[in-house]
Amino acid sequence: MAITIQKVDGSDQKTIAILRYLQKECLPADVMLSASQGYWWIAYTDKNIPIGFAGLTRSNSWFDCGYLCRAGVIWEYQGKGIQKRLIRVREAQARKLKWNWLISDTYQNPASANSLISCGFKLFEPTSPWAFKTSLYWRKRLVCRTKTKKYVRQKTNNMQKNTTKKTKPA
Ligand SMILES: CC(C)(COP(=O)(O)OP(=O)(O)OC[C@H]1O[C@@H](n2cnc3c(N)ncnc32)[C@H](O)[C@@H]1OP(=O)(O)O)[C@@H](O)C(=O)NCCC(=O)NCCS
Repeated sequence: MAITIQKVDGSDQKTIAILRYLQKECLPADVMLSASQGYWWIAYTDKNIPIGFAGLTRSNSWFDCGYLCRAGVIWEYQGKGIQKRLIRVREAQARKLKWNWLISDTYQNPASANSLISCGFKLFEPTSPWAFKTSLYWRKRLVCRTKTKKYVRQKTNNMQKNTTKKTKPA
């Protein structure tokens, strides 16, 4: 079954209703998050049925950092890599915004933690933990593509200079 991930407008009434439904289905015990802030995505089946969602906001603590604020996949569709796709679209958005870091937290949630690990996140200990006492905190450093290209160009130039110096007959 083909699943598509669509970026959605968090101020659109129909989208708000779908996000509310998905949050209720996936995280019935959690306080509902408003979609009025940040960036949101919905995963749809080929029959246009919404089956997953995810949000990304700017971190409250760090200016150049995005926070994977919430995600969920309806249980029938879990284990098919949808959360990993939802992480990747958020990472792509964060890179577009030139943010340097992504962070998240998990609480007693091995599936969520493992999908973060698969997408390259590492555990860290924030100086001011913001979630529960036993929450795990995750971060990933993002290097902007343009920075990488510039960095590689500089490195190559330096290496060529160094090689020239080293091989130059005395
Ligand atoms: C957490 C959640 C979003 C994961 O969605 P998903 O689409 O099933 O995740 P993926 O298939 O992309 O990846 C899940 C990973 O966890 C692993 N996993 C799944 N269930 C697991 C379990 N019970 N214990 C350990 N690992 C588990 C999978 O093998 C996979 O690992 P991999 O990347 O090494 O292959 C989904 O379980 C969910 O919606 N849960 C309820 C809502 C929730 O907890 N949201 C997150 C907090 S906001």
